[in-house]
Amino acid sequence: MDELLNEALAGLRNAADAPAIEQWRVEWLGRQDGRITKLLRAVREQPQDERAAFGAAANRLKQELEAAFEGRQEELRRSAIEALSTTSALDVTLPGRPQTLGRLHPVTQTMRDCIKAFADMGFRVAEGPEVEWERYNFDGVRIPQDHPARDMWDTIWVNTLVDGRRQMLLRTHTSPNQVRVMERSEPPIRVIVPGKCYRQEATDATHEWMLTQIEGLAVDEGIRMTDLKGVLYEFARTMFGSERKIIFHHSYFPFVEPGIEMALDCFICRGNDARCGTCHGTGWIEILGAGMVHPEIIDNAGYGSDRYTGFAFGIGIERVALLRWGIEDIRHFYANDVRFLSQF
Ligand code: PHE
Repeated sequence: MDELLNEALAGLRNAADAPAIEQWRVEWLGRQDGRITKLLRAVREQPQDERAAFGAAANRLKQELEAAFEGRQEELRRSAIEALSTTSALDVTLPGRPQTLGRLHPVTQTMRDCIKAFADMGFRVAEGPEVEWERYNFDGVRIPQDHPARDMWDTIWVNTLVDGRRQMLLRTHTSPNQVRVMERSEPPIRVIVPGKCYRQEATDATHEWMLTQIEGLAVDEGIRMTDLKGVLYEFARTMFGSERKIIFHHSYFPFVEPGIEMALDCFICRGNDARCGTCHGTGWIEILGAGMVHPEIIDNAGYGSDRYTGFAFGIGIERVALLRWGIEDIRHFYANDVRFLSQF
């Protein structure tokens, strides 16, 4: 049996791969014709007084070979993995390529912070279509066909003709949603409508042909200009901190009366450069238009302007983002340069 053991172990050491050790296993431990199986069968043929010792020794041999087989199997598996890392084209020791993490676009971040500021003041969020009817974008907010104010937002029209006329456009502002919201709700109203707008405009440091706005609308009994100013002050304080200078100018929009604009001090020239490309020498950067909702629009909604008043505002989100981070050119936002975008 010692001879058998030596022979078997030598054979196992020579088996250098998986098929070879399988062949060895069949030869020695195979259930049908394995040499150890045969040895165990031969126990019966031994003389009575040697049978027990023979059987015990044969069993011990079987166990030793089974253990040796498992050990050799493990050894081969390990060296196969080692060989992979040194000889194969796949070098499993190379560190992986790190995944670059994306992030929200600075305009999206700013949009979300603005929405949060208004949500904290009790405004709910609504949405409206980007492809809009002329009726909502212009007529509904008191900008008739031949009104010069239509030139303020040179319009991108949709070519489809309706009743022989183009009547659809890419909305030039979010203000059509004043009408849309009033159509489907009753006062008291406190709503903001975020979204993209489009204008056929020469681009410069503060103008893009696509822009993002938040429209705000509040309608109730007894709403006054001071409520509007309070809301806008609170918004500016949340977004820019209380140190920043704010100014209200009188302004004109056909859908408000009176109308105002809110501007922040220019972070580039601080009002000291008459040729500043960012504030155009004024020292101020306009970020929103606002005013008291025109009584005619309140009447058109069927609310009754004798009872209800309201305010509306439209904020340019890119402008807010420019001011908050001191970005000198609005066109960076949509140039898709990750060297710029990854700074926020
Ligand atoms: N819709 C105006 C614009 O796009 C902004 C505005 C909104 C002004 C609401 C007054 C009231 O410039």
